[in-house]
Amino acid sequence: MTVPTLTLNNGVQIPQFGYGTWQVPPESAQDRVAEALDVGYRHIDTAQMYGNEQGVGAAIAASGLARDEVFVTTKLNNNRHDPAVVAGSVDESLEKLGLDRVDLLLIHWPLPMIDIDFVDTWRALEEVYAAGKARAIGVSNFQPSHLRRVVQEGTVVPAVNQVEIHPYFTQDELRAVNSELGIATEAWSPLAQGEVFSDSALEAIARSTGRTVSQVVLRWHVQRGDIVFPKASSVERLKENFDLFDFELSAADMGAISALDAGRRIGPDPDTMSWVPEG
Ligand SMILES: NC(=O)c1ccc[n+]([C@@H]2O[C@H](COP(=O)([O-])OP(=O)(O)OC[C@H]3O[C@@H](n4cnc5c(N)ncnc54)[C@H](OP(=O)(O)O)[C@@H]3O)[C@@H](O)[C@H]2O)c1
Repeated sequence: MTVPTLTLNNGVQIPQFGYGTWQVPPESAQDRVAEALDVGYRHIDTAQMYGNEQGVGAAIAASGLARDEVFVTTKLNNNRHDPAVVAGSVDESLEKLGLDRVDLLLIHWPLPMIDIDFVDTWRALEEVYAAGKARAIGVSNFQPSHLRRVVQEGTVVPAVNQVEIHPYFTQDELRAVNSELGIATEAWSPLAQGEVFSDSALEAIARSTGRTVSQVVLRWHVQRGDIVFPKASSVERLKENFDLFDFELSAADMGAISALDAGRRIGPDPDTMSWVPEG
């Protein structure tokens, strides 16, 4: 069972499957990430906003794995968009993670309604990249209009765009724009934050393939070519979610899952999201 590796637009290799740490409390992050590494996960998605970078770093340090065996992503918080504070904020993340550089650094939200232009924030990320503190830089929750501005006005094309994608929100138009621009798509909330587990259509596909609903949905993402990192809180679920690479969904099952699309977001709309934490 090998997790496929994708090549980003600057040549950096990324495991297509990983572990997401949103809502993993800081005090248990080290244990959860240690369990994920133990199961075989080699890609950890964290963020300044999640407050658990320290636990993620501690688990990686304690794992004994070589630095280049684990792919680590973090994201710039919404209150760190001012270009003057970006580099210092990344240094704080590196300190917490116990790393010299991250593998991937993202702008978490574009925040088009605040008075700092995300293109200016992007230029500050380009400097962090040039300084060697991130092997790749990218964005999250960017809409096509945001992406096009960054590509036209910046000098580095984002390596990834991490956006909400699940069977109820398949985002095919945005995925097509990502591909057109050479940007890899990462799918956040791939299990629709648990909503997929009560879906009778998905249960039927799970029964007919002899897999679980979680495996069927995650396999659908992988076969679409997106990068995914579900969150889970037990070793059993970590193992179940990881066990995806020895079966394939038929074209009919892929189509049936895609047909569940209802254009329905669970998370905030990036065009109006303007929440900036204190501090
Ligand atoms: N860039 C962004 O703005 C953004 C936004 C949201 C998420 N993300 C990233 O995407 C990652 C994944 O998204 P997510 O955490 O929102 O949601 P998700 O991965 O779609 O779903 C996680 C939920 O599914 C449950 N679950 C996982 N595996 C299961 C299984 N095998 N059987 C039954 N239940 C299972 C989990 O329960 P337990 O935890 O109780 O096991 C949890 O409640 C995040 O952790 C984060 O890294 C990024």
